Amino acid sequence: MSTATARAHPNIALVKYWGKAEEDLILPVAGSMSMTLDAFATTTTVTVRESEEATDAEDSFVLNGTPATGTALDRTTRFLDHVRELAGSSARADVVSVNEAPTAAGLASSASGFAALALAASRAYGLDLDQRSLSRLARRGSGSACRSVVDRYAVWNAGTDDATSYAEPIDAPEMRLVIVTVDGAQKQVSSREGMRRTAATSPFYDAWITSTARTLEDMVAACKAGDLTAIGEITESHALRMHAVIASALPPVRYLAPASVAAFDTAAALREQGTFAYATADAGPNVCVLTTPDAAEDVAAALTPHGQVRIVGPGPGAHLTEEAAR
Ligand code: PMV
Repeated sequence: MSTATARAHPNIALVKYWGKAEEDLILPVAGSMSMTLDAFATTTTVTVRESEEATDAEDSFVLNGTPATGTALDRTTRFLDHVRELAGSSARADVVSVNEAPTAAGLASSASGFAALALAASRAYGLDLDQRSLSRLARRGSGSACRSVVDRYAVWNAGTDDATSYAEPIDAPEMRLVIVTVDGAQKQVSSREGMRRTAATSPFYDAWITSTARTLEDMVAACKAGDLTAIGEITESHALRMHAVIASALPPVRYLAPASVAAFDTAAALREQGTFAYATADAGPNVCVLTTPDAAEDVAAALTPHGQVRIVGPGPGAHLTEEAAR
């Protein structure tokens, strides 16, 4: 019996990933860039059973104390199949995972979840993957998970095949995100379905793909130059472009709630007053406002009318830890 425990955090994209070039390998239509957070970790322990045990038995997956069934268990098993293939093993495993993000925060727990699972499972099956290989593996679980393998700031190179599609670190100035868990959340369309629908029906999809590739180049240049204003402007405009292409799908999808739009307006009002504040939002109503360490408290205070606020900063990539998840 071999066991390993890993911890990983969610990430928030400043240049968004929206659309797959290849479904099975999860290759994106364009690259993206993100901040790995210092909060809301997922801790995952994987224990590989003795290979003598019945190999036709199922893997098990306990999430936050509750045994998973259906889609959640299937996704975990399919992911473990990739690891077993790499390791040349057929042994089943028991996975225990604890997610510190409050469900209402709507933070992509799939990113922290699959990054932690990739590291814990690869170790438990006896593999010692370098960061690039680990990022490629995490990508197979959920695209954005490949970025949570990396410390602080990451660029996901779109690539053209499994070997070339991975995230790597990028230097960027010290920044903070104020996460606003907005009120009045509506039921969400999953990112998988939202991406599929956008690709299949939006007349703007081609422009989204080509412009995102250029936007990522601009973001990388802004990070290298330490140009905070450019980073902020790119972040907000790219988020709005993503929500625009999503809204142009048929049937349309709208992830932003009225309170989300109000939070974007507050960021704009803060900028008018000379405060660094640029908003972004993923496939849900919650808003993250990018700001500087000095301004974070003021920005958080200005956003409180729209929901619960929490200041987060850049955090560690996926790493091994001693204390098992329970
Ligand atoms: O990795 P997924 O399938 O959860 O998709 C993530 C999509 C966004 O969060 C909206 C954007 C991103 O780049 O994280």
